[in-house]
Amino acid sequence: MAAGSRGAEHLIEMRGITKIYPDGTVALRGVDFYVRRGEIHGLLGENGAGKTTLMKILSGLLRPTSGEIWVNGRKVSFKSASEALKMGIGMVHQHLALVQVFTVYENIVLGLKAEGDARLRIEKLMEETGLKVPLDVRIENLPFGVRQRAEILKMLYRNVDVLILDEPTTNLTPVETDELFETLRRLKNQGKTVIFITHKLREVLEVTDRVTVLRNGRVVGVVETSKATPQQLAKMMVGREVVFTVSKPPREPGEPILEVRDLWVRNDLGEWAVKGVSFTVKAGEIFGIAGVEGNGQSELIQAITGLRRPEKGRILLEGRDVTGFPPSKLYRMGLGHIPEDRQGLGLVLDMNVAENSILGVQRGRRFMGKFYNLLWSSIRRHASQIIERFAVVAPSLDAPVRSLSGGNQQKLVVGRELSKEPKLIVAAQPTRGLDVAATEYIRKLLVDMRTRGKAVLLVSADLDEVLQLSDRIAVMYEGEFMGIARPEELTREQIGMMMGGYRLAGG
Ligand SMILES: Nc1ncnc2c1ncn2[C@@H]1O[C@H](COP(=O)(O)OP(=O)(O)OP(=O)(O)O)[C@@H](O)[C@H]1O
Ligand SMILES: [Mg+2]
Repeated sequence: MAAGSRGAEHLIEMRGITKIYPDGTVALRGVDFYVRRGEIHGLLGENGAGKTTLMKILSGLLRPTSGEIWVNGRKVSFKSASEALKMGIGMVHQHLALVQVFTVYENIVLGLKAEGDARLRIEKLMEETGLKVPLDVRIENLPFGVRQRAEILKMLYRNVDVLILDEPTTNLTPVETDELFETLRRLKNQGKTVIFITHKLREVLEVTDRVTVLRNGRVVGVVETSKATPQQLAKMMVGREVVFTVSKPPREPGEPILEVRDLWVRNDLGEWAVKGVSFTVKAGEIFGIAGVEGNGQSELIQAITGLRRPEKGRILLEGRDVTGFPPSKLYRMGLGHIPEDRQGLGLVLDMNVAENSILGVQRGRRFMGKFYNLLWSSIRRHASQIIERFAVVAPSLDAPVRSLSGGNQQKLVVGRELSKEPKLIVAAQPTRGLDVAATEYIRKLLVDMRTRGKAVLLVSADLDEVLQLSDRIAVMYEGEFMGIARPEELTREQIGMMMGGYRLAGG
């Protein structure tokens, strides 16, 4: 084909894109990426495949090391995100870029010259797209799903034709996800083009028209969604067959490790978030808590891991009352915690891999000398072992954790916590944001820990995950357990009912 463009067919053409980061990491190796006008195009790939990098290049945040970008038949070279915006390309990041103390309205019009009918235009946009947000509420007072809608509105208000969403469903509830998909379909009908980055095969199959799969910085294939199967997409992503089920050898549970008795916990607003929850997790058992997020799961976990003080009730670890103990003490007593918010609690992003590998255990005898000096050689040895054993891909021990892909950040947290050989592992959303291969790996690790006699408390919004891994399941609704049962005793419908507030009969 001549040097010209296939502009008639493709709105976006990225040709031969290579990106080498300043530290030498080759994130993209000659990627060709084409998007048709008016389609919803999925961008699928494992953690670290290069999805975010490619879209940051398209939206002007990063410059490619080499390669060309054509938009609507014209060759472009963006020096900034605002230049890409002028050409109608806008990206909504996973970590939203809104000003917390400003209202939605202020955020939407931020940086634009005042227009008399701004508010009217925004209201009209909300009507057309179904993106409903309260315009005069500050961002910090809104739940994540609403903030995300605000950010999408902000892009649409700037007249983007191409909307790029980077893993938009990670922090959404199932209902919010459905609403987002409805909006994307509406935008498509209005002629907008959407690029949708995700790991979740089900979502790709549900909402996209075509999918491009990246692996290790290269395009492995482009498929029409209607002709794709989950098995085929998973195989393209990881380069081998993926097992969607984890094999779980039978195991008789042992002694109780964690006992929670009539626990009451308040949330940040002072309201009851956990209302009299009782359960026991035994050695060699995975106890799963399912439920729509925001029903008290986070507060329950915080109370168990010492991050929030319960108001009433008791928590026992191996028979010892540990209610109100600080996290540091609990860690020393054998608690491992894979936190829900790995970027806040799990890791310090600006610290390097070695430093992060000892968070929570830095005062241990292995890492601290007589004069409270850190023993760097043993810290580095420890970090290398985690990287090796848990297959963390990191450029070096000195690289800041920020530069690791999301999946590798999570593997580092999981590796650090499991290498403490804890007696009790509290795993909150352990595979959120992870690709199928990393997910499979972490699920297998949790099952291995359980089979080796550890007690595992699993909280996950992913129902398949809870059903597959747990030996017993509780469903949480408005701070209470709607029932506790073995997974084989429950149908998905029953769990769905319990998630909506129906108590399990006899449970
Ligand atoms: N600022 C950076 N400096 C150095 N390397 C980076 C930087 N950002 C990303 N990388 C590396 O580039 C590669 C591609 O990363 P990218 O974030 O694009 O992947 P991704 O497909 O979006 O992954 P994820 O699904 O985990 O978000 C990874 O190896 C990552 O570690
Ligand atoms: Mg990414």
